[in-house]
Amino acid sequence: MHKKEVKPGIYSVGVVDWNLRSFHGYPIHKGTTYNAYLIVDDKIALIDTVKANFAEELLDRISAIIDPSKIDYVISNHVEMDHSGSIPAIMNVAKNAELITSAPNGLRGLIAHYGADFPYREVKAGDSISLGKRTLTFIGTPMLHWPDNMLTYCPEEKILFSNDAFGQHHTSNFIFDDEIDLPTALYDAQGYYANILFPFGSQAKKALSAVGGLDFEIIAPSHGILWRSHIKDIIAKYQQWAGGEMDDTALVIYDTMWKSTEKIARRIVEGFAKRGTRAIMYDLSVSELSDIMTEVLTARYLAIGSPTLDNTITPRVGALLTYMKGLSPKGKKGFAFGSYGWGGQSVDILNKELTDIGVEVILDPVKIKYIPTKEQLEEIENKVAAIE
Ligand code: FEO
Repeated sequence: MHKKEVKPGIYSVGVVDWNLRSFHGYPIHKGTTYNAYLIVDDKIALIDTVKANFAEELLDRISAIIDPSKIDYVISNHVEMDHSGSIPAIMNVAKNAELITSAPNGLRGLIAHYGADFPYREVKAGDSISLGKRTLTFIGTPMLHWPDNMLTYCPEEKILFSNDAFGQHHTSNFIFDDEIDLPTALYDAQGYYANILFPFGSQAKKALSAVGGLDFEIIAPSHGILWRSHIKDIIAKYQQWAGGEMDDTALVIYDTMWKSTEKIARRIVEGFAKRGTRAIMYDLSVSELSDIMTEVLTARYLAIGSPTLDNTITPRVGALLTYMKGLSPKGKKGFAFGSYGWGGQSVDILNKELTDIGVEVILDPVKIKYIPTKEQLEEIENKVAAIE
């Protein structure tokens, strides 16, 4: 088994889940990784585990380095099962290991998942354990992305084991940011942030300030590649995302029945072009909500369209709004559009939904009966171009 060395005596022993296409219920394209880290010192520590169905591979990877029964500490930075699922398998082999988790939520969560029988040790923010030559210090990062989350910091090695924070669904048989394409990795990190951490901007800001004073040269998350050459880039991105910074991009997202709503969408895109605003169009019948949310994170404008179907919006637009509401984007501007045959309720419903989500409505709803005429399309384009 190939040993993935992070630094001498520190190994990445997690697994690549190449074929995963649904992560916590949202679609991903390239699989993900569940990273776990083994530190071999006077004492041996395992930081996080992997999803339960990969326990055997985790044990194989550890066995290629040391006898897993010799593990002294299993550190659970996060209860969610992509990281804790193999704790029972590890603890079954590492009979003398203590299971270290955050107080009180980590302990509560692990007991709820795996029972109270393991030799747990609760730690609070600022607590440390010594492995011999190295120390591990724990930093609370609640809601990144569950209440129990913590980071583990090794000052002697200048490594921050960051769990979900700074992660990405980036699959590779390499482990470092300088061994892969940087823009792809940063975009994968954006996708991860948008679909997992979007609602927790204020907690992300707190985490950034908590780690801001630390001296680290590697960020080792629990998903994707490790950051060592581009730490400034990923920190800058997190500051941007957590701070709600947006760029002058518009997303024109729609469902369509007989292409009338699509015709409107295309002219809205033209209107944004005339205004000098980059626009991206998404037909919901061929687009993944997770990809759209990756762009929603940084886009300033949202134009959302639906034809009227059975007196309301279409189910696909309903799903978009439900997903978006949960991730609670802030500070967006937008408007509703769509075509109808007789009732015409969809655009007004959409307009209200946008307001409920917190989108500032900047244009009256665009509502067209049956098929938009050339004159109507021209007018729509010009109205969008004139948005202030
Ligand atoms: Fe990767 Fe919140 O678990």
